[in-house]
Amino acid sequence: MNEILLLHGPNLNALGRRNPEHYGSVTLPELEARVREWGSARGASVRSFQSNHEGALIDTLQEAYEWASGALVNLGAFTHTSYALSDALLDFAKPVVEVHLSKISAREAWRRTSVIRPSCVASVEGLGIEGYREALDRLLEAINENS
Ligand code: DQA
Repeated sequence: MNEILLLHGPNLNALGRRNPEHYGSVTLPELEARVREWGSARGASVRSFQSNHEGALIDTLQEAYEWASGALVNLGAFTHTSYALSDALLDFAKPVVEVHLSKISAREAWRRTSVIRPSCVASVEGLGIEGYREALDRLLEAINENS
């Protein structure tokens, strides 16, 4: 069975009340439960982690090297700034798919760059929580191609 890390970065713990015009009204626990269901329907188990702290996200990726077949990541604003997380994703060395609830390519200029994109096999944006289903499918395809 594939084991997937679902990793969320800063401010995503506030989903449900934070900028619903961009991020919708679903809370993070609801979103995580949805991805878990989509995973189990596809024979994959999903473990979730969220942190507002860059180092905690890096520690989690380093630990996941031991057990995960791949990762689905929404690193929030660290997407646009964190070379440390980009390096950690490269070191993770398993397929990673980047997902964003909002369409970052159509928002403020600073959101249009993703420094983690080169470390990812695919990127899905602007589809709300449905984007996580597409991202999961892309991730499982990449894992199956690798194995
Ligand atoms: C986000 C987009 C980022 O620019 C922002 O900082 C977030 C959420 C998204 O899911 O659309 O926190 O990653």
